[in-house]
Amino acid sequence: MKLDWNPFTLNGKRILVTGASSGLGYAIAIGAARMGAEVVGVGRDAKRLQGMLEAVQLISDKKHAIINSDLLLSDAMTLIADALEAAPLDGVVHCAGISRLAPIRQISLKHLREVNSINLEAPLLLTQTLLSKNLINKGGSILFISSIAAHIGVTGVGIYSGSKAFLIAVMRCLALEVIKRKIRVNCLSPALVDTPLLAATSALTGPDSMREQEANYPLGFGTPEDVANACIYFLSDASKWVTGTTLIMDGGLTIG
Ligand SMILES: NC(=O)c1ccc[n+]([C@@H]2O[C@H](COP(=O)([O-])OP(=O)(O)OC[C@H]3O[C@@H](n4cnc5c(N)ncnc54)[C@H](OP(=O)(O)O)[C@@H]3O)[C@@H](O)[C@H]2O)c1
Repeated sequence: MKLDWNPFTLNGKRILVTGASSGLGYAIAIGAARMGAEVVGVGRDAKRLQGMLEAVQLISDKKHAIINSDLLLSDAMTLIADALEAAPLDGVVHCAGISRLAPIRQISLKHLREVNSINLEAPLLLTQTLLSKNLINKGGSILFISSIAAHIGVTGVGIYSGSKAFLIAVMRCLALEVIKRKIRVNCLSPALVDTPLLAATSALTGPDSMREQEANYPLGFGTPEDVANACIYFLSDASKWVTGTTLIMDGGLTIG
């Protein structure tokens, strides 16, 4: 008997990942390539993005590509659409994002705009551009990386939490709007995962605070590969009956 049945394969799929130059986005790009996808990575840091390209090229000889762009630039969405060279996508993972800490009494308009512009405006505007230019195939999958912060209260994370909750609310409406074309839209809400973003937070709050937080995780903090594996599910035909949902992955943090 041949044991090659794999509903999670991404073979034949073209997947765009934003934030592919670091942390979760990098791991998602690598995971997608390992599952057979042709990967298009978007990021700002040219050197790290190039490193991601070289890593996926070692995995397969598909037509992997990178698009070096700051998603906040006014022409970023057009630049990305043009760089796709009219070859539509089968999946998009909106992973680029930032975290900024401040209790609400200390926030400013600058803080609010800084977080919202990349965490919610950029993924929505990119989605709008891709859909309006028919750059997402029938049966495609759109995945927004939200956060556990959208589901629970944590002091000092209010604006970030709000930006991630916004994605979940919009995702449901979008899921209804594109369902006729069998395009699926979902959110993934990870809790703390060891990435440069977490390291930056840890540098502000201190190692003791991180150790205290990890004690609340029965399965420990996540790894970027844990998140990438969930993305593979959402991008693959294994999840073809799943849309409008949010998967919380948190190592048991919120069970009790
Ligand atoms: N790590 C966690 O614990 C955790 C938990 C839940 C959710 N998340 C979410 O997961 C996503 C990735 O986080 P991470 O931990 O992987 O962080 P990370 O390592 O800091 O990576 C962030 C990525 O976003 C990109 N990015 C930021 N601003 C951008 C801009 N203006 N234009 C284009 N790209 C931009 C960065 O690009 P460059 O490096 O090239 O500048 C980088 O690739 C974020 O949305 C975050 O909110 C993370």
